[in-house]
Amino acid sequence: MSYKLFIPGPIAVSEKTLRAMAQPMIGHRSTDFVALYQSIQPDLQALVYTRDPVWLSTSSAFGSMEGAIRNLVKKKVLCCMNGAFADKWNDVALRCGKQTTPLKFEWGQPVDPAKVKAELATGAYDAITLIHNETSCGCMSDLAAIMAVVREFPEVVSIVDTVSSFSALPIKKDELGIDVFITGSQKALALPPGLSLISASKKALERAASIADRGYYFDFVEFQKNHENGMTPSTPVIPLIYALKSKLADIKAEGADVRYARHARLNQTVRTWAFAKGFKLFPKEGYGSVTLNCFANTLNVDLAALNKLLKSKHQLVIDGGYGKLKGTTFRISNMGDETDETIAALLKAIDSALAELGGK
Ligand SMILES: Cc1ncc(COP(=O)(O)O)c(C=O)c1O
Repeated sequence: MSYKLFIPGPIAVSEKTLRAMAQPMIGHRSTDFVALYQSIQPDLQALVYTRDPVWLSTSSAFGSMEGAIRNLVKKKVLCCMNGAFADKWNDVALRCGKQTTPLKFEWGQPVDPAKVKAELATGAYDAITLIHNETSCGCMSDLAAIMAVVREFPEVVSIVDTVSSFSALPIKKDELGIDVFITGSQKALALPPGLSLISASKKALERAASIADRGYYFDFVEFQKNHENGMTPSTPVIPLIYALKSKLADIKAEGADVRYARHARLNQTVRTWAFAKGFKLFPKEGYGSVTLNCFANTLNVDLAALNKLLKSKHQLVIDGGYGKLKGTTFRISNMGDETDETIAALLKAIDSALAELGGK
């Protein structure tokens, strides 16, 4: 059965991207691979706004997120938590045997820079984890304000998850002072899952080199060593790298700024539609994500029935709420390749399904 995903990842992948994946295999130690790897670096660095390398990790984002913990935390990590993925990241650190402090905010509330500052000022930490865009509740924290605080503590390595925001708005890694920038392929990049990107600063690499038990698969020192030869430590997911190259060309052709404006516009279109129906945004006002909207189900719609109708009659799927928010919120993605037309068609389909469900 074929249907289009408007969940906040994985999202729809274009025919062009799928075709790009269907190319003959090359050896990952061949000059062809080195050429492929090196050819995408400049465009990746431009999108990450960094002069540091951008490594390609054959894993979903959590692999790289665990890797960052193992490579960078010696003393204690401050885990900023305002949603499901941040909660999990704290758990990842604990399972890696690290000391953590969970800095908790209600789901949907942004991470408060003042609280981050107060905690870092205790001097207990050598790392901080932060999720820029909490996909579970559609909350986007003020990265610039948080990083301004973090930069006051040079002993702290900052690890930032941009999994569901990367490429939908400018996130200027070097300017913000982000030490480790981590993202994934199946969100705004509109690639299939399985590839994660990591960009680490010199400071982060120096920290990694001073840590003995970095593990094997996500060893940052190995990523850097291999990067210098245009390669990855292990056999990479070459079809996804072909897809990434194709997507980077698409982004260049559209223009990054036009792409950012398109995401902002489509996000607003969905919001305007929902407000007119009587739904409310779940996250705190001013902190709504630009790549998805998480709405409180203020009209008590039967979301399972709605999605069933959307899938069977309109070949579309939205999200009926994550984890403890299931049923009380719903999420609609506007990531990737969506256009005014595709979003309008989605909203029309939801209107029709809602009417069929009982005139909502
Ligand atoms: C913000 C955020 N971080 C991390 C992850 C985990 O990514 P993955 O499941 O690809 O490892 C997700 C997945 O949805 C996410 O939205």
